Amino acid sequence: MNKTTLIIGKNGKTGRRVDNLMQNAGHITQAVSRSTTLSFDWLKPEGWPKAMAGCDSAYVCFQPDLAVPFAKAAITEFIKQAKLAGIQHIVLLSGRGEEGAQQAEQIVVSSGLKWNVVRASWFAQNFSEGFLIDGILNNQVALPAGDIPEPFIDTDDIADVVFACLTKPELANQLFEVTGPEVLTFRDCVEIIADVSQRPIEFTPISAEQFLQSLKQQNMPEEVLWLMNELFTVVMDGRNSQVINGVEKALGRPATSFREYALKTAASGVWR
Ligand SMILES: NC(=O)c1ccc[n+]([C@@H]2O[C@H](COP(=O)([O-])OP(=O)(O)OC[C@H]3O[C@@H](n4cnc5c(N)ncnc54)[C@H](OP(=O)(O)O)[C@@H]3O)[C@@H](O)[C@H]2O)c1
Repeated sequence: MNKTTLIIGKNGKTGRRVDNLMQNAGHITQAVSRSTTLSFDWLKPEGWPKAMAGCDSAYVCFQPDLAVPFAKAAITEFIKQAKLAGIQHIVLLSGRGEEGAQQAEQIVVSSGLKWNVVRASWFAQNFSEGFLIDGILNNQVALPAGDIPEPFIDTDDIADVVFACLTKPELANQLFEVTGPEVLTFRDCVEIIADVSQRPIEFTPISAEQFLQSLKQQNMPEEVLWLMNELFTVVMDGRNSQVINGVEKALGRPATSFREYALKTAASGVWR
């Protein structure tokens, strides 16, 4: 029987990369999101059985973030349906220092299924594929991030770790906490991007209130405002300012530095 891996988040920062790695290695995938023909929406559990049908493993990338209050119920329901569908192995993408993420991890770890948790720090790709790219392109990044440093991780590294979890049985039932190899402030990151892309990008520290106000003016939905407030006020207190060697533990090689990420991203042309 063919083995098929369900990949949630086909066009997302990690799902796309995991799907490419799996397909290039000859594995069969069912990669889904709300916009795929076979659609998967975290808000519509009645549609999940169709997406899960025929799959024996799953890469689970929750939206918008495991910190949101409905995540616990959604992950509980996902595991219930996964068991009914015959899925035997779950690889969960998790976040650091969030109560909701810890609850979701616990649900997966105690599910009775084969599991992996890939617990990731802030993605470097937020600057090139996420909410910070507009600021980079406008040469002006304004954030309430203060001087709290983060070990930003390259999502190529996350995808490599997820791919290893999905394809190497000896890695089963382990947590990999994955971070970049050094801690940097958001200002440091912007300076590195300015340097490698030869652009005069400025970093401006602003208050959380100013930040939320600017998001409101961009008509961001309420849940995004809630999440950004949570990430930049509650979670951004230094609790995650620690480098952890999950990439090395899973892959036997060091994590990619932010400068390496910035160099390859600048070369791709997305910041031009
Ligand atoms: N970004 C970070 O720094 C970071 C750090 C640690 C952990 N994480 C975790 O990584 C995960 C992905 O976060 P991300 O912000 O980077 O997003 P992402 O993986 O880039 O995914 C974005 C995609 O999610 C899909 N999506 C949106 N709402 C959905 C829904 N209700 N149901 C199904 N798919 C939906 C959208 O595709 P469609 O429009 O096609 O549905 C969108 O293209 C989250 O669980 C987050 O907690 C993120």
